[in-house]
Amino acid sequence: MTTTHDFWLAGRRASGDATFEVHHPFDGSLVGKVSVPTDAQVEEALNAAVAAAPVFAATPAHVRAGALDHVSKRLAERTEEIAQLITAENGKPIKWARGEVGRAVSVFRWAAEEARRTNGETMRLDTDPGGVGRFAVVRKFPRGVVLGIAPFNFPLNLVAHKVAPAIAVGAPIILKPAPSTPLSALVLGEILAETDLPAGSWSVLPVPNEKMPALVQDDRLPVISFTGSDKVGYQIMDSVPRKHVTLELGGNAAAVVLADWSSEADLEWAATRIATFANYQGGQSCISVQRVIADASVYDALVEKVVAKVEAQVTGNPTDDATDVGPLVDENAAKRVEAWVEDAVAKGAKVLTGGTREGAAYAPTVLAELPADAILAGAEAFGPVLSLHKVDSTDEAFAAVNDSKFGLQAGVFTHDLQTAFKAHQVLEVGGVVIGDAPSYRADQMPYGGVKDSGVGREGVKYAMDDFTYERVLVLTGLDL
Ligand code: SIN
Repeated sequence: MTTTHDFWLAGRRASGDATFEVHHPFDGSLVGKVSVPTDAQVEEALNAAVAAAPVFAATPAHVRAGALDHVSKRLAERTEEIAQLITAENGKPIKWARGEVGRAVSVFRWAAEEARRTNGETMRLDTDPGGVGRFAVVRKFPRGVVLGIAPFNFPLNLVAHKVAPAIAVGAPIILKPAPSTPLSALVLGEILAETDLPAGSWSVLPVPNEKMPALVQDDRLPVISFTGSDKVGYQIMDSVPRKHVTLELGGNAAAVVLADWSSEADLEWAATRIATFANYQGGQSCISVQRVIADASVYDALVEKVVAKVEAQVTGNPTDDATDVGPLVDENAAKRVEAWVEDAVAKGAKVLTGGTREGAAYAPTVLAELPADAILAGAEAFGPVLSLHKVDSTDEAFAAVNDSKFGLQAGVFTHDLQTAFKAHQVLEVGGVVIGDAPSYRADQMPYGGVKDSGVGREGVKYAMDDFTYERVLVLTGLDL
């Protein structure tokens, strides 16, 4: 019998009068049905969030931190069950799904710690004659109810990155999961419902995409935190220029391999990391390796290893422990990747391996000689496709990284500390990883991009900053 999953309206379980289906990307089987909130229920959740806002903002830190710790603990206890669910709705291999749950455990733990730690700051004002006898206290207060819009590629952890910081600062949140992967977010709701957070402080509402513009426009939701495509992200931002909008958008991350990264062990490590992180979860991560930019002196040796390691990726059923690369989220996604590779080949690119599709699965693919006018030269592949580029110097390599409309993260394989700082200085991205692929992310790090990769930062403390604003208290007439 197929389970119908309720949603979470102002902290309580609820169902609407329609459902939609969630299918397993690997075999198309029905994973579950999800109840859709009616317009009246969405309105109820919104009103409850607005009513909860002052109460939640005034909730003691130990209550918010306690609830966050509880969620972290319960996610850890239910890891295997939730990982299986992530794999079923998203198609990501089970080993990566387990890793995702582990990261969400850490996000909630970090949020609990930050909720306890956040203090504000004090400021002396007697730095000018007019400030003598005056003193300031700066504290941060929630901007208001957060509308969190989450993507399909990390159905739990990118939800966690919106929900946990909102709770940590006492901002009510209405979370809208991706239509293809709502089930992990609904389980998170089940765990949140075990806490004593104020009614109205959180809702998980699988609102259909076509109903979202009205919510985005709603003045009762002054903060929007969106993760997804640059197209939709900028549509949102342009439609509500006066709102506080955080956009975590796409990327076409580069892994740079410089001339000094040349020993057998160096190249073995770089190739292993590149092959793994070009293909993990089918390349459906904004920081998966899409471009390899290698110095001419190491290029040939690196390419040989990269191709061998990409070919060694185990493809197939994502529920198998051994599988490295499963299907994409659906067949349309795989067809899009197929069309973009065909476009590249028609314009002169060489396929060194891969280049084939079977249903929703696209084979791990390596392209060389990608022409500048190919779609894949500029767009985010969001699939298991990487392209190889040869350069003659470090400056040329860094210029190639920056020759992109995106700027999320970059990886630079070098042993040279000065080069590492140079990369940090000149690369137009939100994060530079030295000695590894650009795909490394610790959840407490600031995470976000420049250019078309978005605005604002996630990473627990940084999202907390984003959901709040400074309010200064000036004390006068003091004998200091
Ligand atoms: C993303 O795809 O933007 C998230 C990557 C991650 O959290 O590892």
